[in-house]
Amino acid sequence: MPKLVIVNHAGEEKEIEATVGRTVMEVIRDAGFDEMLALCGGCCSCATCHVYVDAAFADKLPAVSEDEDDLLDSSDHREPTSRLSCQVPVTDAIDGMKVTIAPAD
Ligand code: FES
Repeated sequence: MPKLVIVNHAGEEKEIEATVGRTVMEVIRDAGFDEMLALCGGCCSCATCHVYVDAAFADKLPAVSEDEDDLLDSSDHREPTSRLSCQVPVTDAIDGMKVTIAPAD
């Protein structure tokens, strides 16, 4: 089971186990991180699941879709490594990836 290292708004890191087939948003939310609002439930329409991913894993993630790109553009906190975590599936290839929860807009 892949592990992810989640960094909350306070900068604290916590390692969590992630189930393949779920999304990074779901595993962060289910691990009890209050900052992960994920208001739309994962249908790529709210951007409250914004995270920064570990740049070393960027090529292991699916490409950013047009909808995701538009939503990320609406954030004041977009960075080169920004993703909507509901659009990032958990796979064995992302074992060990650090995911930082982005500040709320
Ligand atoms: S949960 Fe709403 S866009 Fe990801």
